[in-house]
Amino acid sequence: MKKVDFLIIGSGIAGMSYALKLAEHYENEPEQPTICILTKDQPQESNTQYAQGGIAAVINDSDSYEKHVQDTLNAGSYINNEDSVRLVVEKGPERIKELIKWGTNFDKNDKGEYSLAKEGGHSDFRILHYKDITGKEIQRALLERVKRYDNVTLYDHYFAVDLITQHHLGEKVTRRDQNINCYGVYALNEKSGEVETILAKVTLLATGGIGQVYRTTTNPAVATGDGIAMTYRAKGHVKGMEFVQFHPTALYHQGEEPAFLITEALRGAGAILRNHKHESFMERYDERGSLAPRDIVARAIDSEMKKSGHEHIWLDATHIDKKELLGHFPSIYAKCLSLGIDISKDLIPVAPAAHYLCGGIVVDEKAQTSINHLLACGECTHTGLHGANRLASNSLLEAAVYAHEAYLTALEQVKGVAFQDNIPAWNKDGTTVAEEMVLISQSRSDLRAVMSNYVGIVRSDERLKRAFRRTALIYEETEDLYKKTTLSVQLCELRNLINITYLIISAAMERTENIGLHYSISNEQEG
Ligand code: FAD
Ligand code: SIN
Repeated sequence: MKKVDFLIIGSGIAGMSYALKLAEHYENEPEQPTICILTKDQPQESNTQYAQGGIAAVINDSDSYEKHVQDTLNAGSYINNEDSVRLVVEKGPERIKELIKWGTNFDKNDKGEYSLAKEGGHSDFRILHYKDITGKEIQRALLERVKRYDNVTLYDHYFAVDLITQHHLGEKVTRRDQNINCYGVYALNEKSGEVETILAKVTLLATGGIGQVYRTTTNPAVATGDGIAMTYRAKGHVKGMEFVQFHPTALYHQGEEPAFLITEALRGAGAILRNHKHESFMERYDERGSLAPRDIVARAIDSEMKKSGHEHIWLDATHIDKKELLGHFPSIYAKCLSLGIDISKDLIPVAPAAHYLCGGIVVDEKAQTSINHLLACGECTHTGLHGANRLASNSLLEAAVYAHEAYLTALEQVKGVAFQDNIPAWNKDGTTVAEEMVLISQSRSDLRAVMSNYVGIVRSDERLKRAFRRTALIYEETEDLYKKTTLSVQLCELRNLINITYLIISAAMERTENIGLHYSISNEQEG
């Protein structure tokens, strides 16, 4: 059994920023609390690492908080939580200064000012970026910085399996309970194969996204919605799960996982979407053309692909100055060239891919979940910032802002809590090691096919019903396997993915109007 004051699950921008703030706060204190980060893979493996376009913030003189607020509300179809929008927009610039202080580089122009890009739905230039690998740069800086602090321990290849609550003390816990307490987590030490009990005074979930529930996604393999599934199983509140954002332009290259993103910033720099007749078609769907918000662009592309019967459309960057292409988009340039596509001369084949979840664990403006002493921030949360659709480059910002709010909350909470000592160890009696991994891998692949075919960009009542029935069967088979099998990451991830599909499908079934990222042809017919 381990005992830590602050337990953090996840080492992306959300988890690392929170850890760094705690580390700095206690740096010169005589009593050092224990700050512990668990991460299930290599520390850098996260959605953060893959972010390309950048991080949005009001920096330009021509820009204003109000413009950023209105763009965010507009993209979110005005069902956003306006308090959250204002918090993120107004605190954003301070958090960016911290990222810079911690060693993150952002590109500057010839005058030494930050070079700001534009992306879909933004009315001003406000995207700070580091070439087209902004996330990699942020992740590098945060990881390097955290290593400076002796009071932070980072355990990689530790997989958080379940939150520990009163349920583990034999009490009945329901979703209506107001007083569920989190005492820490059970975590699978992937190197020893043992499930360890990690008790904590304050636990933070920063477990990122869910892209892996779909067959084509820009998210890496770690994005299996674990934190959301754990919270749901612990009877915590989850919301907004029907709002899955598909990025309009992932590179179409069959078999590649994750799908390589072609950043929206390339359209911000002037690239144009073209259909198979090479026509610029976006103007027929929205006056903002190729730079309309993502829900509109992804649906328009889906419609063009269905009309033509092709599996991709084209992105045309051939008219953009080659120096700009090489300077701002070197990794896209190199990636495409490695596949024989010279983006300064050739059209790029692109198709939508699952990219981001706007919903997740419900948190308030202090990053508090519905479970006591359980905080959450980053992509695994529902803060209400995004409403029905996220504005590009608002998610890194949201993670940084809410990590700060979570840090302030944790400082207060840690004072009044004691460890819950009588937690039973993980019981693995009666389980054996899985002999047929195919039972797990095939179910994961079936699940992803069902979600992509029936619960994608365009849905219908009939598709959702089918998806519900198919995934219910996979759920039953997997629960049965779970009871008799020794834990493995593959099995835990499958179980979490199934929970996530259930949450997405049932939220989609409940939503009877088309709004933002949720679009059903059944609602259209009824309307
Ligand atoms: P992540 O960065 O995903 O970190 C989650 C962490 O939790 C990982 O370390 C993971 O291993 C760990 N973890 C998960 N489950 C467990 C478990 N059970 N046990 C232990 N550890 C666990 N947003 C923008 O604002 N701008 C962009 O330009 C942008 N570009 C993007 C490009 C791509 C290709 C992708 C995929 C996303 C992009 N996004 C962008 C979205 C943004 O990157 C993410 O929303 C953000 O990085 C999420 O940060 P996070 O810290 O919440 O989660
Ligand atoms: C991109 O670079 O297009 C992704 C930006 C985002 O997801 O916010």
